[in-house]
Amino acid sequence: MEKTKVAIIGLGTVGQGVAKLLLDHGDRTARHAGRTLWLEKAVVRDLKKPRDCDLPAGVLTDHVDEVINNREIKVVALLIGGLEPERTIMLQLLESGKDVVTANKALLAEHGAELFDRARELGRSIAFEASVAGGIPIIANISQCLSANQIQSLDGILNGTTNFILSKMHEEGMAYAEALREAQQLGYAEADPTLDVDGSDAAQKLAILAHLAFGARVDWKDIPRMGIDRLDKSDVRFAQEIGYRIKLLAVAELDGDTLELHVSPTLVKRGRPLSDVSGPFNAIRVVGDAVGELMFYGRGAGQMPTASAVVADMIDTAVGRTAITFRTLELWSNRKARVTPREHAKADGRFYLRINAEDHPGVLAQVTNVLGQHYISISSVLQQEAASADGTVPLVIMTHMTTEGATRKACAEINKLTCVRGKTVRMWVRD
Ligand code: NAP
Ligand code: HSE
Repeated sequence: MEKTKVAIIGLGTVGQGVAKLLLDHGDRTARHAGRTLWLEKAVVRDLKKPRDCDLPAGVLTDHVDEVINNREIKVVALLIGGLEPERTIMLQLLESGKDVVTANKALLAEHGAELFDRARELGRSIAFEASVAGGIPIIANISQCLSANQIQSLDGILNGTTNFILSKMHEEGMAYAEALREAQQLGYAEADPTLDVDGSDAAQKLAILAHLAFGARVDWKDIPRMGIDRLDKSDVRFAQEIGYRIKLLAVAELDGDTLELHVSPTLVKRGRPLSDVSGPFNAIRVVGDAVGELMFYGRGAGQMPTASAVVADMIDTAVGRTAITFRTLELWSNRKARVTPREHAKADGRFYLRINAEDHPGVLAQVTNVLGQHYISISSVLQQEAASADGTVPLVIMTHMTTEGATRKACAEINKLTCVRGKTVRMWVRD
């Protein structure tokens, strides 16, 4: 059988999973690729670190040049994480005639334009299914299977770490820090978990999907985003009491030729499919004008689900399928953007507000007066009886449909009321 020599750079959580699939299930990959994917080299930083996979002698190295300069290696899975040296290594691999597979959304979101341009110039390809939603084949679906559609909206849970943390907080009452530690131990989190918890990772993935699905040219840093790192346990409890669960949602909604994009903790009504997505799972709801509503669900992080996507990309690359789709992808191409970002303030929805207010007559009236001035109608109010040590009580208000801009301005005014302490908490609501 024909042999295609491949290499892995980075043998951490994902890289070890890829090595296991290539070495333990070579028959499977050979059947699908019509050739053997032969693991020639695996590059790490620390040769002494114990690895959870049995590599044949001579495969492990700490010299990336052994891959770059090996003309027989055709496909390389670059699985380091971070921006440098990954960017430089990817350019060197492309220039030395190799096709690259990556799971690194941060790298693509930051340097995608340069890397894709260079790959196109050199007639090489970059495959990146594992960069968004781990094991869920969302990139292939959006860029190939749904190409007869105008995608109208795309929203869901794109970060496994934060979903794992929120599930632990909701379902087991676990503290945020402990849940984050567990997510790190299980290999879900980025090397720098700030990217997960502050919403950056989800925004990077959303930018990639918005490029593919809508022809948008967005810098992920321009996507309005909020993470769960400042989430108060009391909001998890209040959300539960009023029949919701907090999820970190990434949202892209087309309105004419403008696109609303944001990443934010959101109260999702219990019983809605997204509210029941638990642990490291991701879920993405896609609405296309021909196909209607679709739901993609699966493990968004973790060793084997992510390796599943990487190895499928390696097979597609080895047989030449990636080269065909890569040329037609709109991602970071010179084609003109088909949509422009919508003014975020105009995005409409319902909101959850929690205000820490003094417990005396007239306070509720002052707060509702501000909301009224911004034409924000109240759907429900929840106030607990017991005051906290500083004499304030949490006032939880659910609004009717309004806009992001109106609620932002109203909250800024509410925060200035003398009867209010601290900053009002504001989150989107999905019914
Ligand atoms: P990881 O566990 O931290 O592993 C990183 C690996 O890269 C390690 O083996 C490390 O070597 C190696 N490495 C780092 N710098 C290197 C260098 N300069 N030269 C050679 N090797 C180097 O990371 P991971 O979780 O597998 O993630 C890898 C990528 O996949 C990231 O971009 C991440 O965003 C993405 N991703 C991860 C998941 C997931 O669930 N973990 C899911 C989807 C996508 P040593 O072992 O010797 O230190
Ligand atoms: N850290 C990422 C997550 C890995 O938790 O979703 C998958 O991209």
